[in-house]
Amino acid sequence: MAKRKGMREGALWPALRGYWHPVAFADELKDDKPLAVTLLDERLAICRLGGKPRAFYDLCVHRGTPISMGWVEGENIVCAYHGWTYNSKGVCTRIPSIPDKHPIPKKACLTSYLCEEKYGIIWVCMSEKPKTPIADYPEYDDDDYDVFVKDKDTWDCSSARAIENFVDQAHFPWVHEGILGDREHAVTSEIELERDGEALLFRRQDLASKFHPVPHVRNYRLTRPFTIYQRKEEDSGNAECFFFVVTPHSAKKTTWYFLIARNFDPEAMGVQGEEHFYRTILEQDLVILKEQRPEELPLDLSEELHIKGPDAVALAYRKILAELDVE
Ligand code: FES
Repeated sequence: MAKRKGMREGALWPALRGYWHPVAFADELKDDKPLAVTLLDERLAICRLGGKPRAFYDLCVHRGTPISMGWVEGENIVCAYHGWTYNSKGVCTRIPSIPDKHPIPKKACLTSYLCEEKYGIIWVCMSEKPKTPIADYPEYDDDDYDVFVKDKDTWDCSSARAIENFVDQAHFPWVHEGILGDREHAVTSEIELERDGEALLFRRQDLASKFHPVPHVRNYRLTRPFTIYQRKEEDSGNAECFFFVVTPHSAKKTTWYFLIARNFDPEAMGVQGEEHFYRTILEQDLVILKEQRPEELPLDLSEELHIKGPDAVALAYRKILAELDVE
């Protein structure tokens, strides 16, 4: 049930502050320099202080200078304009233009947000109480798996449209013909869908085809708002596990992070390596995604036309997102 006429993805912004979002790969954080990123239309400064990732609203309280223009000194961050120095909690500990004995105003603080490092990604939650933990990706720390893809890119499209596209099977023969689909066999497979708290679970059984010669099952967990875990497994036990998560910079700009782990060596099996295969597919998706209108995903279900069967996942996804506006 759509909760509000005309409701679109941007209406979720206040609720989405309570969820974890990726903001950078851990190895993008330099020891001496903060990183400026935009999350939910708010500019943040991300840095590593005393070895731990930290996130601040990107504004020095003194004269409105982005703190991301400054630099890191040990466990502190220094503003580039007048050198005010803030500790890892965002509390100002030094104002160089006043004598040492002069008290520092209590209000001299940066606004700080929760910040964690997991799966080699820096995550931020802009609320003191996250509504849910960062989604699971068990293979990342499993020695039997090799994480052979770790990539990101920024796209001019909405985050929810990017997620919906990832789980939309009906476009495969049209956008990815010859790679993921065949226009002579465009009917989508049946799926069973269930709700598990913040997630939608569903599976697809893929028969052998010229694109995937070995039959396999794909198990999906789509965790609200913007994370997809997909485990593609053959009867032999060979498995490939995708972790796809996106950053909502704004309603029209998103960055995807894509990790793929597998427990087999394709070359040892005489199969060609496919390290760049996913890039071709994602670039084909972008051709459509950047042109969709409205840019923000409509959460009022009457705004677009849905087909029972092929659009089941998209419908369920829009419904669990729409719930956020009223929870
Ligand atoms: Fe940051 Fe003055 S603006 S120290």
